Amino acid sequence: MEFLTRFLGFMSLFTSLVSGFTLQNLPLIQFDEGYTQLFGDQNLIVHRDGKSVRLTLDERTGSGFVSNDIYLHGFFSSSIKLPADYSAGVVIAFYLSNGDMYEKNHDEIDFEFLGNIRGKEWRIQTNIYGNGSTHLGREERYNLWFDPTEDFHQYSILWSPSHIIFFVDNVPIREVKRTASMGGDFPAKPMSLYATIWDGSKWATNGGKYGVNYKYAPYVAQFTDMILHGCAIDPTEKSPSCEDRAVEDLRVASEITETQRSKMESFRRKHMTYSYCYDHMRYKVVLSECVVNPGEAQRLRVYDPVTFGGIPHSHHHGKHRSKIRIAGTQSI
Ligand SMILES: *[C@@H]1O[C@H](CO)[C@@H](O)[C@H](O)[C@H]1NC(C)=O
Repeated sequence: MEFLTRFLGFMSLFTSLVSGFTLQNLPLIQFDEGYTQLFGDQNLIVHRDGKSVRLTLDERTGSGFVSNDIYLHGFFSSSIKLPADYSAGVVIAFYLSNGDMYEKNHDEIDFEFLGNIRGKEWRIQTNIYGNGSTHLGREERYNLWFDPTEDFHQYSILWSPSHIIFFVDNVPIREVKRTASMGGDFPAKPMSLYATIWDGSKWATNGGKYGVNYKYAPYVAQFTDMILHGCAIDPTEKSPSCEDRAVEDLRVASEITETQRSKMESFRRKHMTYSYCYDHMRYKVVLSECVVNPGEAQRLRVYDPVTFGGIPHSHHHGKHRSKIRIAGTQSI
């Protein structure tokens, strides 16, 4: 046993040296072991395999689930297939939050999928809040190199003490390095993982111009291959209990390799459509953690002249729907 543990440890170190990314082939747990339904009655259906879940939005309700444990750092991942056809106003969120525990100074790390009028061009938004920094949004938005309604694709959040990295199909698309000047803005308190589908008519698509049209309902988002790999907090002891492997995995995976970095840069040059770091209407002074990249700046200026002309940014946070706080976000 001791030998096996060591051997596996050695193999994982070896893999990490080769790939720089060890968070592959992690165990997939049963839905009931890892998660609990949060809202939506019959609109959450666990597949017969016990591992896949369908979340539906119809005229009655959206739906969602939450992790049974709260985590201080981890790797959180799911393969997701988004609803096809007309989906304006539909929002699917895959995110970490502790808004239920800290009303005034919560943390949050978001992947948000924003529906659209033409059916295919879903947009992804990522965002983070730390210790209640909701007056500052750190949104980025992207389009994708595939149709996310046609097949399952993997969306992952890596949260370590030093980094937050968002991945799509194992390609890092955004890296947030913790800097001293970010202070409490870097999420640092235990969070739960959430997945929800809901009616974001008020703001999701073009600032709410196109609401959810229930003629096209039900809207179904499917989740599978879900991974929770991190440091779960024992609520009674309030101390993290994570395997050494998880700590080491997170540390190693936080260091993006050269190959992965060039994939990330290429993705950002081709697919990023908005970044708070380049929004000079909103932030007269660029936030301290922003590393301005001339290639990205150039593209965003060409791609998104509206932003550079100054779209009003309204903020939505602290909203309650059923028992949950919806991932705080900003209209597009
Ligand atoms: C987080 O917010 C609380 C309450 O506003 C404050 O007391 C604390 O110092 C903040 N922590 C950090 C790391 O900024």
